[in-house]
Amino acid sequence: MSTTLRRTWLPFLNEDVPETCDTPAKVAAYELKLGCAALGIGSPKLAVEPSMGEGYAIKDDTITGGSVGILYGAYAFLSAKAAGEPVPEGTQSPFWRLRMLNSWDNADGSVERGYSGRSLWFEGGELTWDGPRIRQLGRMLASAGINVLCVNNVNVRSDAARLIEDRLPDLARLADAFRPFGVRLMVSIEFSRPLAHGVGTADPLDVKVQAWWAERANAVWAAIPDLAGFLVKADSEHRPGPFTYGRTHAEGANMLARAIAPHGGTLVWRAFVYNCQQDWRDTATDRPKAACETYAPLDGQFDENVLLQVKNGPFDFQVREPVSPTFYAMPNTNLALEVQLAQEYTGQQIDIYAMNPMWREIVADLPPRTVSAIAAVSNLGRDDNYTGHPFAAANLYGFGRFAWDPFADPEAVLRTWARLTYRLPAAQEDALVALLMNSRGVYEKYTANLGLDWMVNPHNHYGPNPLGYEFDLWGTYNRADRNAVGVDRTAAGTGYTLQYPEAMRARYEKAEDCPDNLKLFFHRLPYDYAMADGRTLIQRLYDDHFEGCAESEAMAETLASLDLPEPDKTEVRERMAKQIKNAREWRDVLNTFFHRLSGAEDAHGRKIYD
Ligand code: GCU
Repeated sequence: MSTTLRRTWLPFLNEDVPETCDTPAKVAAYELKLGCAALGIGSPKLAVEPSMGEGYAIKDDTITGGSVGILYGAYAFLSAKAAGEPVPEGTQSPFWRLRMLNSWDNADGSVERGYSGRSLWFEGGELTWDGPRIRQLGRMLASAGINVLCVNNVNVRSDAARLIEDRLPDLARLADAFRPFGVRLMVSIEFSRPLAHGVGTADPLDVKVQAWWAERANAVWAAIPDLAGFLVKADSEHRPGPFTYGRTHAEGANMLARAIAPHGGTLVWRAFVYNCQQDWRDTATDRPKAACETYAPLDGQFDENVLLQVKNGPFDFQVREPVSPTFYAMPNTNLALEVQLAQEYTGQQIDIYAMNPMWREIVADLPPRTVSAIAAVSNLGRDDNYTGHPFAAANLYGFGRFAWDPFADPEAVLRTWARLTYRLPAAQEDALVALLMNSRGVYEKYTANLGLDWMVNPHNHYGPNPLGYEFDLWGTYNRADRNAVGVDRTAAGTGYTLQYPEAMRARYEKAEDCPDNLKLFFHRLPYDYAMADGRTLIQRLYDDHFEGCAESEAMAETLASLDLPEPDKTEVRERMAKQIKNAREWRDVLNTFFHRLSGAEDAHGRKIYD
C-alpha cells in the first residue's frame, strides 16, 4: 500500500517497507525488487557472506555482503543506477565502525535545538511512533550508511531517565523497528540516576553505585542484546557528574564502561566541559581551553570501551572554529568526532548551509584515523520532509556518506544527493550543487565572520546580536571596543595556541600567518589592521556583510530558476525569503555595530545605518 510519506533522496523507492522485512537481507531483497522495477533495470542476485560484516562487493550480477553489508550493497547499487553513476568497484567497507546520529529528543516530544518539528518517537513522556514512518527513516539511515541512533537528548530530563527502567520494553520495540536497517540504538543516561533509586550517592567509586549500574546494564542488554551503548553528558551545563564526588572523568566513565563491557556496550562520554558561569570581567579564563585542560591529563586512563566524544571545535558548533586541540592531546584515548547537523548556530534549517565541504576541512586538519568513531547531532523531526528545509536532507545524507568515507569529494556527495532527490537538467543540477557548495561561505560572510562567532541572539541562537553573549556567563566574548576586536589566544594572550602541536600553533600564532577566516578567533586586532589582500579589517568586515547579503539574494534567483518539484519548491522559496531577511538584518546590525565603534566609513559609500 502506498502512502504519502516523503521519499527524500530515494524517490524511486515509491512504496513503504513492509513489516515483514525484518532482517537487513529481507529489506535488501525488497528494495532491489522495488527499485529495479521503478528504474526499469534487471535485479542483481544477493549473496550473504557473514564474514563481510558491514562490507559488500558488487560484481557481475551479484551483490555479496555481510549480514548488514548486503543492505548497504543494495542501496549502493540502486543509488548508483538511479543517479546514473558507476557502481562502486571492489570490496567496500565503512571507514568508521560507529557512525552515530545523536537525537536531542526529549520524552515530552520536544526536540532540543530541533528545527524540523517534534520528535519522531516521543510524545507525552512515552515512546510512540508511526511504523511506516520509522521504516522510511530506517531506509534513509541505512541508505546513507548510518548505523547507530541515540534516541534521547544528552540532557536527560524527567521521563527520559526511565528509558532504561520501566520504559525498557518500549525501547526494545523501537530497537526491533530499526534493527532490519542495520541501525542499533543507543541511549543517553543520567550520571546521577542511582540517587533517584535510594542508593544515596552517585559516586563512581562507591560499590553500591557500581552494583546499581551493573544490575541496570544486565536488564537493559537482556531486553536489547545489540544496544550500542550509553551516551553521557556529565559536569557540563549543570548536568550531574563525577566532579560532585571529587572524582575524575576517567573514574566516572570507567565505572559505567565496566558495567556495560560484559555486554559489548560502548560508553560514549562527551568532552563538552567548560565553566558556564564565567564572569565576563575575567579575562584569564578562556573557554576554548577548557576541554583540553580537563581531559589531556587523563589521556591513557580511559577503558578500552570508552569513546570520548569531542565537538569538532573548541567552542560549540560555530560557523568557523579551528579543530579542537583535544584531538591532538589524547593519542592514547579512543576519540569520537562530534558534528552538528541541527543548524543551531548555522541557520536553523531556514538558511541554506551544506556541511560536507566544512567536514572536509576538518579532516584536512585532523587525520581521520585520529578518531575511532563519528557522531552527529541529528536534524530530524516530524516535519513531512524530516529535516525542515528540504535541502537539510543533504546534510543527513552527506553525514552518512562522510562517515562511510571521509575522503569522498564533498561536491560529488552533494551532486549525488541532488541527482537522487531531484533529477534536474544538467545545467540546473550544476547550479544547485554550486549553490550548496557556496552556502556555508555565504552564511559566514553575513554573520559573525573572521572567526568572531557568537554574535547571535541569546537562547534561540538565530539572528544578530553582537552584544548578546558579551556580558554573559558563557565564556563567549568578542571584547569589541573603539580600537580593536577579537581575543588574543596566542602564547602571549590566553595561551590557547599552546594546546596545539607545533605545526598548527605556527599557523595561528602570528596574526600575519593566521588565515583570515580565523583571524579574530586567535587575535585581537585594530580596525585598521591590514588583511592579507591589503584591505583594512574594518573594510573587510563591511565588505563581507554586504557581499554575503547580496549573495543570498542571488541564491534566491538561482533557486527560482530550478524546476524543483512541489512541495519542495514552495518550501525552499518560503525559507529563502526568510534567509534574505535574516541576512539583511545581520548585515545592517553588524555593520552599524562596527561603524559606531570604529567611526570608519565604508570605502564604497554603501548604506550603513547610524
Ligand atoms: C549547546 C546547546 C545546548 C546543548 C549543548 C550540548 O550548548 O545550545 O542546547 O545541550 O550544546 O552540546 O550539550
